[in-house]
Formats: sequence, C-alpha cells, structure tokens
Amino acid sequence: MAELEFRMDGSNHRLTLSIIDEEHRGIERQVVHLMEEILLGAGAAKVLEAASEALRLTLVHFQHEEAILEAAGYEMLKQHKEEHAKIMEVVTRVREQLKHKESVAALKLVREFRRMLLLHLQNEDERYRDVVNRYAAEQGISPLRARIRHVIPEK
Ligand SMILES: [Fe+2]
Ligand SMILES: [Fe+2]
Repeated sequence: MAELEFRMDGSNHRLTLSIIDEEHRGIERQVVHLMEEILLGAGAAKVLEAASEALRLTLVHFQHEEAILEAAGYEMLKQHKEEHAKIMEVVTRVREQLKHKESVAALKLVREFRRMLLLHLQNEDERYRDVVNRYAAEQGISPLRARIRHVIPEK
C-alpha cells in the first residue's frame, strides 16, 4: 500500500491520524463560534468571516480524510465522498445566506449543518475505523483514538 505523505510548506511530513480528531474538534469549535457570532449580533463582516472559516476548515478536513481513506484502500470511499459533498453544500449555502444578511435562515441552516456533521462523525467516520487502523499498523503510526459521543441536536 502506498505510503501517504503530506506536503506542507514545501516539505514532506508523515501523516498522523490524530489530524482527523483535531480537525473534527476544530470544525465543531468553529461552528459554535459562528452560532455565537450570529446570536450575539456581531457585525456582518465578522459573521461572514466566521462562516468562511467554518467552510474552509470543513473543506480542508474532508480533503485530508479522503486522502487517508484512499491510501488505506477504503472500499466505501465513493459513498463517503458523496456524504462530504452534501455537507459542503449546506455550509456553502450558509455563507451565501449570510452574504445576503439572512441571519435567521442562516442560523437554522448552521444548526442543520452541525447536525449533519455530528451524525457523519458518529456513523460514516466510524465505519472506516478498522480499515484505517489496519493501514496505521502497516505504516507503524498510531491508530485512531476512540471518539467522544456528541449529543445530536433534534431536527
Ligand atoms: Fe468523513
Ligand atoms: Fe471526518
């Protein structure tokens, strides 16, 4: 199986799986921040910046995760990518709504984004655990750690 390397700042870094957990936490933190900015009535530019950052973190994470799954030979990668695309669509729509100053609609959609994301972490991102950990063992890198369970918001 191909060894996975990440190129950052022009140099190669061996990938560690802890990046997945760190990115999940980073997105979750940013989503909470975005909700707070909207609820506390932050200025339009600040709210938009928070939404753009949530979108960026989500995109970067999906790219990293898909690269890991590809290297690990995950057989359900296609379906997993489709799920990622659906989530990206929602967060992209949030930013569009905020651009048009539709904060109430945007807040509702951020809630939906968070719900989709947490469900994805709990279900889809658990399905690849064995495959990725087998790959980690082959590569001599630490396996994925057990994840904390989130309370999924109601629809
Ligand atoms: Fe995922
Ligand atoms: Fe993920």
